[in-house]
Amino acid sequence: MSNLLYIKASPRSADSKSSALADVYLAALRERHPDLAVDTLDLAKDKIPDFDGDKVAAKMAVLTGQTNEGRQKTAWDEITAIADRFIAADRYLLAVPMWNGGIPYRLKQYIDVIHQPGLLWGLDPQTGYFGLLKNKTAVLTLTSGAFGPSMPSPAFGVDHHSTYLRAWLNQAGVTEIDEIRFQPTLLTADPEASFEAAATAARSLAVRA
Ligand SMILES: Cc1cc2nc3c(=O)[nH]c(=O)nc-3n(C[C@H](O)[C@H](O)[C@H](O)COP(=O)(O)O)c2cc1C
Repeated sequence: MSNLLYIKASPRSADSKSSALADVYLAALRERHPDLAVDTLDLAKDKIPDFDGDKVAAKMAVLTGQTNEGRQKTAWDEITAIADRFIAADRYLLAVPMWNGGIPYRLKQYIDVIHQPGLLWGLDPQTGYFGLLKNKTAVLTLTSGAFGPSMPSPAFGVDHHSTYLRAWLNQAGVTEIDEIRFQPTLLTADPEASFEAAATAARSLAVRA
């Protein structure tokens, strides 16, 4: 059996196009893998704690080989519990709209909480970062209103969205990443046809998964 963690980064619920595209992919994947276990994290509803001073101190202690005690230990335990939910999955499905060239802030907050030394990555002073996650795959459903791979950049925006998500996942050890893009969602003559083209790509990706 395989475990999929579905992360929704748009707060637009039923109106979200990135989530609608991910839902198409997931439905097709479920047909192919009826025993798929799906854990859904909706970042608009499932609140992630602030990455506050105690959590920063706990992270720095782990990075420098110190022991966390008291409030710092409580903070590290909380980080570990949230990261463990991420680590438990072997497939990731991330539905992410572009916000101001990058990713929505709640997803960044989630990444800041879980992307920790000894949990998702290590650092070798000679060779640099190395990922601790093994044999995991990710699918990204990406939307943006004006930006698109075929739109002139920087006039219609710069992609710090897919590039950031890929760099983060790569650093954690997830290198097998597929993208399904519905871009642009607004500057398109026929939004329904553009969505349907992306949905077709989502279904054919699921058939190969
Ligand atoms: C706060 C905010 C910032 C946005 N920034 C951008 C942007 O930088 N570039 C862009 O092309 N679209 C931008 N958009 C438009 C969304 O990416 C677009 O509407 C997308 O389809 C929303 O996906 P969703 O339906 O999953 O929420 C922004 C939308 C919001 C709400």
